[in-house]
Amino acid sequence: MVRVSYDQKPYRRALMETYGAKCIPSPSNLTNAGRTILAKRPDHPGSLGIAISEAVEIAAQNDDTKYALGSVLNHVLLHQTIIGIESMEQLEMAGDYPDIIVGCTGGGSNFAGIAFPFIGAQLRSGKKVDVIAVEPAACPSLTRGRYAYDFGDTAHLTPLTKMHTLGSTFTPPGFHAGGLRYHGMAPMVSHLQELGLIRSTAYHQTKVFDAGVQFARAEGIVPAPEANHAVRGAIDEAIRCREEGTSRAILFNLCGHGHFDMQAYIDYFGGKLKDLNYDESELAMALAGLPSVAEPA
Ligand SMILES: Cc1ncc(COP(=O)(O)O)c(C=O)c1O
Repeated sequence: MVRVSYDQKPYRRALMETYGAKCIPSPSNLTNAGRTILAKRPDHPGSLGIAISEAVEIAAQNDDTKYALGSVLNHVLLHQTIIGIESMEQLEMAGDYPDIIVGCTGGGSNFAGIAFPFIGAQLRSGKKVDVIAVEPAACPSLTRGRYAYDFGDTAHLTPLTKMHTLGSTFTPPGFHAGGLRYHGMAPMVSHLQELGLIRSTAYHQTKVFDAGVQFARAEGIVPAPEANHAVRGAIDEAIRCREEGTSRAILFNLCGHGHFDMQAYIDYFGGKLKDLNYDESELAMALAGLPSVAEPA
């Protein structure tokens, strides 16, 4: 488990332990990847890229261990399209169709899950949808990243993927939506942005939690910190429509509940949640370290 999430999300950790898992904070001293990183920075907060390196290394060295990537790869995105397919059927029952679709983006899977079926329908039959990816301002792969070949993990054990990336060595600050602390974006989501079929926006975490609390008080559901990004995006689109005097159907993905993220809400109500900025020089360094790949002319 990424070190910063291990510390910030004790209830998620406790749930896994209840089911019998042993949780180890990453970077750990159990792998070469982890030891190399800890040697340079003993208090490293970890990142999804480092946790992937450690998990892949352990899986590669043990015959009885397999590694399944939970996001980013195209097959994971397509698997999650059940979300959008079901939304289509539900909206049909309600006699409606979305004008705007909003999802949060970490590696891109829940966003693709809700949006891809509607983008497919747009490409096939011209039913236009305005699709918005919402990401954390402290880890802005789609809004600030470069569209380039990069590794999916920090120790460079994965194949290269063409994606929007902040560089595989980029370490985002420890904001609460740990599931969105990934340096890259799924290749299919990245490609859609290049084609102009989706757009992206980024928010800092206090505005995102304002939206989550507003939503909880209106709907009775407490969203996960990651999902609060989509809630913020949906609310802001609704406000924009109200100001423009237009009526639009907005579909957004509430990708997870926040019942195991109460520490984040405690911090929010205690005024301890800060808008964290990434280090510009670290981003420049991580981008400078992108692998050079000859692209076909
Ligand atoms: C609740 C929640 N939403 C979203 C994400 C981000 O992943 P993805 O962009 O692949 O949906 C995560 C990742 O851990 C998550 O826990």
